[in-house]
Amino acid sequence: MPTRLSSGRYSAVAQAFHWIIAALIVTQFVLANLALDLPLGVHKLALFARHKSVGMTILMLAVLRLAWRLKNPAPPLPPGMSPLERLLARATHTAFYVLLFAMPVTGLLMSSAKNYSVSWFGLFTWPNLIGQNEAAFEALRTTHDWLSYVLFAIAVLHILAALKHHFWNKDDVLLRMLPLAKRRKL
Ligand code: HEM
Ligand code: HEM
Repeated sequence: MPTRLSSGRYSAVAQAFHWIIAALIVTQFVLANLALDLPLGVHKLALFARHKSVGMTILMLAVLRLAWRLKNPAPPLPPGMSPLERLLARATHTAFYVLLFAMPVTGLLMSSAKNYSVSWFGLFTWPNLIGQNEAAFEALRTTHDWLSYVLFAIAVLHILAALKHHFWNKDDVLLRMLPLAKRRKL
């Protein structure tokens, strides 16, 4: 029986960027929350060092992903989606791209404002971008924390939307982002 996709698939590169970065973001939440629960000590600092290295990895991947994405448009959304759903999808994805930069940059600036060096897995050290400044540190810490709540909320919305497409609308929106997914018979 012939099968077809309601719209195109995301390429292997887009899927790789999506799932690697998604996994690293989950890692970031786990590392930060484990570290925040610990008393000040070597273990806490080691977890934060890892959080910073993974965060800067996300920044590097975000640069590559955005550059690649600007040259490779996403497949069109299924025709049945309302203008509001399209707007929400677009707004969510744009917000994600902004946060993929804003989270690491506020993190790096926060560390700079405290004069803490940020190493990348012990291989090299990122430059301190601003001088020591306690007021800037507090503002950046608050911003970083609040952005993480925004990121979390958008991720919940995004996952619920993906599940709604799959189980309610029964379209290909989730399948086209899954590496080994078979085409859905329509
Ligand atoms: C996409 C990348 C990142 C994500 C998703 C992320 C996420 C988080 C989260 C969820 C928290 C805990 C917030 C709270 O509940 O109070 C946190 C805290 C923190 N992050 Fe990040 N982070 C990222 C990148 C970075 C980077 C690159 C650095 C530093 C170079 C950094 C430094 C910190 C520090 C120092 C804290 C503790 C702040 C505090 O004491 O409240 N983060 N981050
Ligand atoms: C925090 C983790 C995640 C982030 C940051 C994220 C980010 C993104 C972004 C930026 C896009 C747009 C891709 C583009 O057009 O360039 C996207 C698409 C997509 N994501 Fe995620 N995602 C995350 C987790 C997930 C999870 C867990 C699922 C599955 C339940 C999922 C399912 C999808 C699907 C199906 C699409 C394609 C939507 C479409 O075709 O318009 N994502 N994601």
